Amino acid sequence: MAKLIVVTRDGTEKVIEGDTGLSVMENIRDAGFDELLALCGGCCSCATCHVHLDDGFANDLPPMSEDENDLLDSSAFRNETSRLSCQIRFSEALDGLRVTIAPED
Ligand code: FES
Repeated sequence: MAKLIVVTRDGTEKVIEGDTGLSVMENIRDAGFDELLALCGGCCSCATCHVHLDDGFANDLPPMSEDENDLLDSSAFRNETSRLSCQIRFSEALDGLRVTIAPED
């Protein structure tokens, strides 16, 4: 198990044991964070799983697809560390990944 650190919109930080078979979104959702809506269930069509990554990891992830990039463009809260958490498969290599749930658009 690898650790995933989740920061909620009010700044509360919680460390969860991430399941490496799941996406980051699924790990956050399954841990009970209801402010990450993930309305489309992970098929890259809603952007309600938007997170900001801690700087250290932003460059360690696979590049985003054109669809993810387009969806993130629809968010007023996009920044250089933005990703859709449903598009990131959690893995041992991401042990210690820290993500902040982006404000709701
Ligand atoms: S859950 Fe809808 S885009 Fe990620």
